Amino acid sequence: MLSLLTLALASTATAHCTRPILQEIAAAYIKSQTAGTPSSLPLAASLKYIENDIPLNITSGILTKALPIDFHRSVYDTVTCSTYTEFNSASAPHPYVVHTIIRVTDEKITTIDSVVSDDGDWIFDAKGHLNWALQEKWDPIPLDKQDKREVIQAAGDTYLNQWGNSTMPVPLGTPCARLEGGMYTGNRDPAANTCRMPAFPQPLKVGNRRYVVDVEMGTVGILNDFPWLEASKGGNGTTPSSNMFYVVGGLIRYIHEVTVCATRMCGR
Ligand SMILES: *[C@@H]1O[C@H](CO)[C@@H](O)[C@H](O)[C@H]1NC(C)=O
Ligand SMILES: *[C@@H]1O[C@H](CO)[C@@H](O)[C@H](O)[C@H]1NC(C)=O
Ligand SMILES: *[C@@H]1O[C@H](CO)[C@@H](O)[C@H](O)[C@H]1NC(C)=O
Repeated sequence: MLSLLTLALASTATAHCTRPILQEIAAAYIKSQTAGTPSSLPLAASLKYIENDIPLNITSGILTKALPIDFHRSVYDTVTCSTYTEFNSASAPHPYVVHTIIRVTDEKITTIDSVVSDDGDWIFDAKGHLNWALQEKWDPIPLDKQDKREVIQAAGDTYLNQWGNSTMPVPLGTPCARLEGGMYTGNRDPAANTCRMPAFPQPLKVGNRRYVVDVEMGTVGILNDFPWLEASKGGNGTTPSSNMFYVVGGLIRYIHEVTVCATRMCGR
């Protein structure tokens, strides 16, 4: 594989974004997280680093912690020149499950936007997450069966929109399983569609959606702001959340949700 340097030297005056460039960026991200060395990444001078909706200096973020990566999956969007990575560090003394969007311009990282979940977050259980994630098959979609990016994105959007309108039909396939924190809906009947969400006590509007769509992987990742449930107590805040969808033939087959608790232990 070409190195980033080689690719940089070979690039023409026209900025272009290719899958191999994005694959190298995502691989460098995992390597950097494993070593705890953010400085090893090809960062743009204008880098925006955001963790759980808070802009930080990358030198004080999670990337400075060397973490064993027990599982990771990245998808690549050459249209927006972005990657979306889910990683699980269940075997770390301090376990994490993280979803990250990386935006790239001219082979340099301009944005790292992460939802970082750990103990006390919404039904957090890194070992449970790892167990189920390893059993799923997110196979690449054969060329003649790939959905348009609009179809893949609409499937994820509709799932989130349904939280604001419980009668809205959601394009769920069969089987379909949802992994939320360490909780898995597919454990009792792996052949069933267990993705549908029951109605929330009040309609929820999910805002601040940031997308990465990969048609080859049939995947859309959506970082978003979950309306904070303390609404019942008169609040209307949000909390950082992420949903990653595997879509085949327009229908959702897997959902991975990571949600941070604005208040510790909200999931207990
Ligand atoms: C981030 O922190 C590093 C090391 O502490 C410092 O050198 C750098 O100037 C900081 N960057 C910003 C944008 O504040
Ligand atoms: C909720 O969804 C249903 C089904 O799509 C639709 O008919 C209805 O107009 C929606 N309600 C609102 C308030 O948007
Ligand atoms: C609700 O949100 C608005 C806009 O962000 C804010 O001005 C208001 O103070 C919030 N109210 C409560 C009760 O949190």
